[in-house]
Amino acid sequence: VLDLGCGQGWFSRQLAAQGAQVVGVDVSRLQLTNALRHEEEHSLGITNIEADATRTAELWEPATFDLVTACMVPQDLPDAAAVLAASRRVLTFDGRFLFSISHPVTDAPFRQWERDAEDRPQALRIDRYYESGPRVVHWNMARLTAHWDTPAWNRTLSEWSDLFLESDFVVRQLTEPIPTAAQVEQDERLEPARRIPFLLIFELVPTTK
Ligand SMILES: C[S@@+](CC[C@H](N)C(=O)[O-])C[C@H]1O[C@@H](n2cnc3c(N)ncnc32)[C@H](O)[C@@H]1O
Repeated sequence: VLDLGCGQGWFSRQLAAQGAQVVGVDVSRLQLTNALRHEEEHSLGITNIEADATRTAELWEPATFDLVTACMVPQDLPDAAAVLAASRRVLTFDGRFLFSISHPVTDAPFRQWERDAEDRPQALRIDRYYESGPRVVHWNMARLTAHWDTPAWNRTLSEWSDLFLESDFVVRQLTEPIPTAAQVEQDERLEPARRIPFLLIFELVPTTK
């Protein structure tokens, strides 16, 4: 498995714990330092490589991997087309590219919660869905002990669909994960996700040999 944008390696480790042979790639040395520390503390045989996901096809032979994953990564990439093309190249024909993104509809450039008297989120107001392109995400929520900015790239669902077509992929399955009632009981901040989708998972498969 090739895990693109592996970050600190949480998802890579979930895969490796289930028996996958995992290579994690990330462009951030700092993130990889943490992934390597986890691997040192409790080895699951994961290889971590500092590289740009757009360069994947230069690092491995065609058809090297059965599965390419990118957990919450492609929405941050200016050149998602290059990552899709490179992933297609290193995948076997019967392989899969599985990735998650923040949901393009509810993660629109304008989003604002209408709240009740107890400050509980009621309805999400969204706008400017069709404004594609770069934006800055401000991680300034009160629950965070530090605040920072990250780059992101808005794409509509139609634009994602066009990118898949251009890179010789077809959608096998599209999933909008919903937390269980038990998960909401454990963390009430998940409650709105029982009503509207915040994440989107694509399972892509190659169209041609
Ligand atoms: C939201 S984090 C997700 C991390 C991890 N997949 C997870 O689910 O815990 C996005 C990651 O993508 C990485 N990233 C962003 N652009 C990248 C690129 N062009 N090539 C490789 N990694 C990239 C970032 O450094 C960051 O670690």
